[in-house]
Amino acid sequence: MIKRCFQAILFPVILCALSNLSKAQYTIIPVETAGNALVLGVNKGKDLSIIYYGKKLANAAEYGMVSQAYRQTSDYTKVLDAAYSSSGSRNLLESAITVTHADGNNSLDLRYVSHQTTTSQEGISQTSILLRDPVYNFEVTLFYKCYTDQDVIEQWTVIKHGEKGKVTLHKYASANLHLKAKGFWLKQYHGDWAKEMQPEESKITHGIKTLDSKLGTRANLFQPSAFMVSLDKPATEDEGTVLYGALEYSGNFRTDLELDYQDNLRIISGINNYASDYTLQAGEEFQTPAFLHLLSYSGKGDASRKMHDWARQYKLLDGKGNRLTLLNNWESTYFDFNESKLKDLLKDTRKLGVNLFLLDDGWFANKYPRNGDTSGLGDWQVNRSKLPNGIATLVKEADNNGLKFGIWIEPEMVNPKSELYEKHPEWVIKQPGREEHYFRNQLVLDLANPKVQDFVFGVIDDLFKQNPGLAYIKWDCNAVIYNAHSAFLKNQSHFYIEYMRGLYNVLKRVREKYTTVPMMLCSGGGGRVDYAALQYFTEYWPSDNTDPLERIYMQWEYSYFYPAIASSNHVTDWGKQPIKYRTDVAMMGKLGFDIVVGKLNEKDLAFCQNAVKNYNDLKNIIWQGDQYRLSDPREEPVASVAYISKDKASGVVFNYLVTSRYGDGSVYPIHLKGLDPKALYSLEEINLYPGTSSSVDSEKKYSGEFLMTVGFNPVVNSGRSSVVLKLTQKN
Ligand code: DGJ
Repeated sequence: MIKRCFQAILFPVILCALSNLSKAQYTIIPVETAGNALVLGVNKGKDLSIIYYGKKLANAAEYGMVSQAYRQTSDYTKVLDAAYSSSGSRNLLESAITVTHADGNNSLDLRYVSHQTTTSQEGISQTSILLRDPVYNFEVTLFYKCYTDQDVIEQWTVIKHGEKGKVTLHKYASANLHLKAKGFWLKQYHGDWAKEMQPEESKITHGIKTLDSKLGTRANLFQPSAFMVSLDKPATEDEGTVLYGALEYSGNFRTDLELDYQDNLRIISGINNYASDYTLQAGEEFQTPAFLHLLSYSGKGDASRKMHDWARQYKLLDGKGNRLTLLNNWESTYFDFNESKLKDLLKDTRKLGVNLFLLDDGWFANKYPRNGDTSGLGDWQVNRSKLPNGIATLVKEADNNGLKFGIWIEPEMVNPKSELYEKHPEWVIKQPGREEHYFRNQLVLDLANPKVQDFVFGVIDDLFKQNPGLAYIKWDCNAVIYNAHSAFLKNQSHFYIEYMRGLYNVLKRVREKYTTVPMMLCSGGGGRVDYAALQYFTEYWPSDNTDPLERIYMQWEYSYFYPAIASSNHVTDWGKQPIKYRTDVAMMGKLGFDIVVGKLNEKDLAFCQNAVKNYNDLKNIIWQGDQYRLSDPREEPVASVAYISKDKASGVVFNYLVTSRYGDGSVYPIHLKGLDPKALYSLEEINLYPGTSSSVDSEKKYSGEFLMTVGFNPVVNSGRSSVVLKLTQKN
């Protein structure tokens, strides 16, 4: 009977079962992916708890025996392992939800009512569990969306009440996890402009560790919500148990990791409740953003590949599609350009062999021209003295050159020195009566206001209406929110939430009308990237820091969470490395250039042109293949990353010298991964700088077994600081 019931979960709308072994006490609710089970249990008192999160067991009935295997100290409260902990009743630790009821009472006790599992699409199942307070007319539904093959679970909640009056939500997390292990290690990230995604890994000690942002926009500038927790011991690339977690939200987030007195870890993640009490009307539904998590037993590398597969298949806009290579003019001109300069750059774009020219900041505003970052933001009319014939002429000129044309916008922002600010000071986020405080000389528009949403949508809509040939948007966001206050909202505690709702409304409208046009998610570098935003964007900008050495480290860390196809990597003049090194690094993602092509010497230009051709040849492997981190730049003098096609027949291996210590290089072979051990492969060095030859014999054949067991030495040294190898199956 039990077996039949769990098989039945595979089919639409099924109610779950009672476990044979524990029928008397428990209803067991297994939330399963291909490899894992997050198992919830309901006791006699109807408390919903997490009784297991780990490898899926063949006999689901045995989940009922899991808790008997532990001999930890007593849980006096009986809710330490709550699936969604509430405050004001028995819970003594951090809670997922805190409320004040309509009558002023602060207690909440959520008890299981019912659950159901549905399968709406092959490979995805969704379980929802309804919880209700026995005393108050207040309910929470927990949602678990399981992506079977990738072992990804998305969790969110819907909160609702039928009380006589308003209820205040002080905290409203998306998810609450409870993990058991002999120790936990947190890998988290911090950063700043040009220093994004700096990792730190440490053992979690008792108490609460909080990862959060209160920046409003550009919320990841100092800290992203993405993290990893290793269980039992720090996981390596290929070994160990590791949980990935991230909130799918572009605004303020908060994740609490609390190691309790029983030595279990509770993870609570959601919108940051900082300055954000939410007043919920009777009958209104409050839906939280999704918290995504993924558990792997084969290390951080396996987890990241599953994450990439999930993102490309289900989240990232056009994740399985094409991307455009480009030349951007930001670093070659900054604000100093005119039509004839841009026409020359269009010729350079064609010369380089990339698909698109991207016109960056500085093309707009007349009364207060955008000739620097102190003015013009908000006035999205083409600057008549720089571009007297408008954008349309440039789009046409691009077309004449066989190119596409893209444009930069930063529609959420305004300079105080702008016509927009003069006309609509009430659209600007600022505290009435307080001095304005600027971030990059600008302020943020109040997207909580529907009129501002219309304005922002109009910026994009007008651009497309006036220039139907426009093929790409770079959407920037350079300021955080200071002096958070909306002239539109009555309740300022709703501000941060309504700002994000407004932003997503606009993005939804953009995507309803312009479904596929590629858009880059940029935020003064990498200040904003998450899987809620990436539903609307085809790629993100990891950092303004394009020094290739720095990028090796940054792209390495970003790549745990985001697939290469989403990573916009531009070759620029940052760093001391030669053009080959810079281009090779940028090829590990979505390639672009931001250099003065006209200043390249003959050989550098020839190298770049050839690299673009090689990239076109290999880009599908980089974008859609499996990524393997082979040699860690933080541990070895050589960094090495491979992308292997899903059929294991081809690949590309990037190798870079990352130190300048005397004599350092690839002393030891690099062990390849993800190959067919029985197949034979050749390795050919590509992206050779003109006039140089390779020491790699491309005629030799190696078995996959050899390359994975003994390895291959790409001969990286100070004379060959960057080596790209193309791997091809030969039998
Ligand atoms: C910040 C971005 O990260 C840069 O690439 C560039 O677009 C500037 N803004 C333009 O102001």
